[in-house]
Amino acid sequence: MQFFLDTADIESIKKYAAWGVVDGVTTNPSLLAKAGVSLEQRIKEIAEVVDGPISAEVVSVNAGEMVEEAKKYAQWHKNVVIKLPMTEEGLKALKMLSEEGIRCNVTLIFSAGQALLAAKNGAAFVSPFVGRLDDISEDGMALISEIMAIYKNYEFKTKVIVASVRHPRHVIESALMGADIATIPPEVFDKLIKHPMTDKGVEAFLKDWEKVKNLK
Ligand code: E4P
Repeated sequence: MQFFLDTADIESIKKYAAWGVVDGVTTNPSLLAKAGVSLEQRIKEIAEVVDGPISAEVVSVNAGEMVEEAKKYAQWHKNVVIKLPMTEEGLKALKMLSEEGIRCNVTLIFSAGQALLAAKNGAAFVSPFVGRLDDISEDGMALISEIMAIYKNYEFKTKVIVASVRHPRHVIESALMGADIATIPPEVFDKLIKHPMTDKGVEAFLKDWEKVKNLK
């Protein structure tokens, strides 16, 4: 299973990359706004820290302009993956870009039908948003299971990125299902590593070590 980091905050990216578990990074316009930085600057900075797919999202609304935007982003670094929205125009742009060998991540996926369309048009990745589905009382993880079953039936190569991850259970359930990738926000990485019994155990071992460390 691969872990992507879902943030545009460069300090976070450095921190979690140093853990050795970050295989890629996903950004979106909201994450960039939160970080207060331009897309180009941040993508180039991320590429120096993480050697893996880095998603950069287009903001055009028609296919021709999306393709132009995508081609510009693709020149920034070989690891750039173009994030396209799951719209009619996004689907058209996906076809054009994937035929040219430009890898795309189709975002804002909320149904298996959308994931099927994206795979047919050659998406390298799809990003189903599990947390936002849970937010409206739907079952986000059930969508992952459906998409994975469909992709398996037809041997689609499209990789599933579990996105809009809100808590460690989303990551664990993704792993149990065999999802290819989870894109994880920094705060969820912190929750994944933490366990009070681990902290308590380390504290007790260090305390006891003090009692014997000078014994010959
Ligand atoms: C990642 O590709 C998505 O843009 C991100 O996971 C969305 O997360 P949110 O629903 O917490 O905004």
